[in-house]
Formats: sequence, structure tokens, C-alpha cells
Amino acid sequence: MAGLEKPVEGVAGPLPAGLPLRAPDHYGPARTAVAWRPDRNMTMPRIEPQDGVAWVTGASSGIGAAVALELARRGWTVAATARRLDKLETLALSADGLPGRIVAHCGDVADPMAMAAVVEGIESVHGPIALAFLNAGIAPRNGPGLIDVAAFEQVFAVNLIGVVRGAAAVAERMASRGKGQIAVNASLAGYRGLPGAAAYGASKAAAIHLCEALRFDCERQGIRLQLVNPGFVDTAMTQRNSFPMPFMVSLDEAAARIVDGFARGGFEIVFPRRLAWLMKGMRLLPYPAYFWAMRRLAGEHRGGRRDGAV
Ligand SMILES: NC(=O)c1ccc[n+]([C@@H]2O[C@H](COP(=O)([O-])OP(=O)(O)OC[C@H]3O[C@@H](n4cnc5c(N)ncnc54)[C@H](OP(=O)(O)O)[C@@H]3O)[C@@H](O)[C@H]2O)c1
Repeated sequence: MAGLEKPVEGVAGPLPAGLPLRAPDHYGPARTAVAWRPDRNMTMPRIEPQDGVAWVTGASSGIGAAVALELARRGWTVAATARRLDKLETLALSADGLPGRIVAHCGDVADPMAMAAVVEGIESVHGPIALAFLNAGIAPRNGPGLIDVAAFEQVFAVNLIGVVRGAAAVAERMASRGKGQIAVNASLAGYRGLPGAAAYGASKAAAIHLCEALRFDCERQGIRLQLVNPGFVDTAMTQRNSFPMPFMVSLDEAAARIVDGFARGGFEIVFPRRLAWLMKGMRLLPYPAYFWAMRRLAGEHRGGRRDGAV
């Protein structure tokens, strides 16, 4: 065992004490055993309010507004971005008296030029962005046809390309400082294809994939990348849904879980737990079993049809 404490080329360091190892004749040479390593992101320094400001997109309502307020409660200066400036200004006023504060920086994540300008504006006035929560998102209703191309274009422009634009606008700056934290709000709806949610679900599945892939690039630059996958949260987006939404979470609870997750720093912030485990289990099912189970859960075997799963 003593030989294993010596780092092998290409591996960060010695094994943590107590890691169970099988005998070398099972695994072959020690090289295979020490290939296990802790998540490198977990060893990065935590981001604190004194490192800079927080930036939240989609902050004029729902999850974004609630997260901005929760961050201000925990002492952060929060730059809040969305298209509706009046809502952002009302939000900023509602943070009066909290340990931190909220400032409005209007912007459209679907506008190719806007995010770089918003980030430049925030940093020139309030200092470096240490934490970015890329949350802006939409869930447009499907049109009357089988496949609504316009809805796909609209939802991808905000839920995927909008996230990419926001991330691109802050990532280079964070990389030059060697420190930063970016969290992307995707959804449990991105885990598997859900009935009535082809456009929204595909955009969220793409956002999940984007985060998994970008995590490797970001960690090399000292940037902690996180993925937020909520189940149903009580917002304007879900209030339009007519189908049952199990384990619905209040806005305050969602915001607390998300901000706690920022502080903990793990890759995925996922809630509520019961829906998360159900959806994680669904990911493991082979297709025939998955389609059977989902038809029953969605009531499709009784002729039901749902539209716009979040
Ligand atoms: N509610 C849920 O159950 C749930 C579950 C999983 C994931 N999510 C995700 O959580 C995020 C927030 O959703 P929500 O439920 O809080 O809905 P919401 O209340 O409708 O909030 C959506 C936010 O996104 C902003 N937004 C939309 N398009 C934008 C654009 N082009 N540029 C900038 N901002 C834009 C909206 O502001 P303006 O209209 O003022 O621009 C608003 O602040 C979304 O990404 C959603 O997919 C929600």
C-alpha cells in the first residue's frame, strides 16, 4: 500500500486515507487504482460576497427575483438583469434594509450584443462579477401543428443561446482573474423527453449537456460551474400549466435551496429530492419501459395530453 501514496504521473496526488482498494491482481498495476480522484471543483476556493458582485439573469420575476433577494439577504450586491426594467427597479426597492442590495441592469439574453454590454456596465460600476446565475428562460406554448418550429427557435434562443451568451460574457473576465462561479438554471425536464415539452425539454437537455462539457474547460480556469435542476416551482411559468405538478416547491424554498447550493459548491443543485430521484430513476430505464411508465404517469393511456412541462 505504501507505494500507492506516491503520486503517479498525471494524477493530482496521493489517495485519500481509507479509500477501499482491491488487490493489484484484480485491477492490474497501482496506476488504475489511483486514477480515482476527488472532484477538482470541490477543492476550489468558495466564492464570497467580498470577492465581487453576483449577477442574476431573468431576475424580474419568479426564481431569478427570489434568488436575487436571497443573495441580498446573505450580504451580496446583486446585479439583476431582465427585459422589464420596471420590475427590476421594484425588486431593487424591495431589497432596501437587507445586508446586501440589488441594482437593475436591463438586458435581453437573446440579443447578440447585449450580454457583453451588460457585463461591462456591471463591472465598470460595481466591480468584478464573482457569481453569475444564468437563469433567464421561457416555456412557450406549442402552436397548433405537430412541431412548432417558431417555438423551438424562440426557446433555444433564450434557454440555450442566451445561457451561452451570458456565460461567454463573464467567463473570460473570471478566467483572467483565475476565480469565479457560474450557475446555469436548466430543469429536471431536461433529464428525459416528456410529453408536450419537446421544445422546452430539448433546450434544457442541451443546457445540461452544455454544463457537463463546459465544467471541464471552466475548472482549468479556476471557474466553478454549477447546474441547477429544479422540479416544479410555483412561478408564473408553472401557473399556466393545467396538468398535475407533483412535489411543487414554493419560491422561497427554491431560492434557499439554490443559494445554499451556491455556497456548497457541488456540481448539481437539484430539488425537490423525491421528484429528482424519480427522474434519475427514469433516466436508467430502457426505452420501452420508459415510454410505458411515462404514458401512465402523464395519463396518456387514458387519452390525456399535456403541454408545456417545466
Ligand atoms: N418554475 C419552474 O417550475 C421551473 C422549473 C425548472 C426550471 N425552471 C427555469 O427557471 C428559470 C426561471 O423561470 P421561472 O419559473 O422563474 O419563470 P418566470 O417567472 O417566467 O421568469 C422568467 C424570467 O426570465 C426572464 N426572461 C425571459 N426571456 C428573457 C430574455 N430574452 N432576456 C432576459 N430575460 C428574459 C423574464 O424576464 P423579462 O420577461 O422581464 O425579460 C423573467 O425574469 C427558467 O430558466 C425556467 O426554465 C423553472
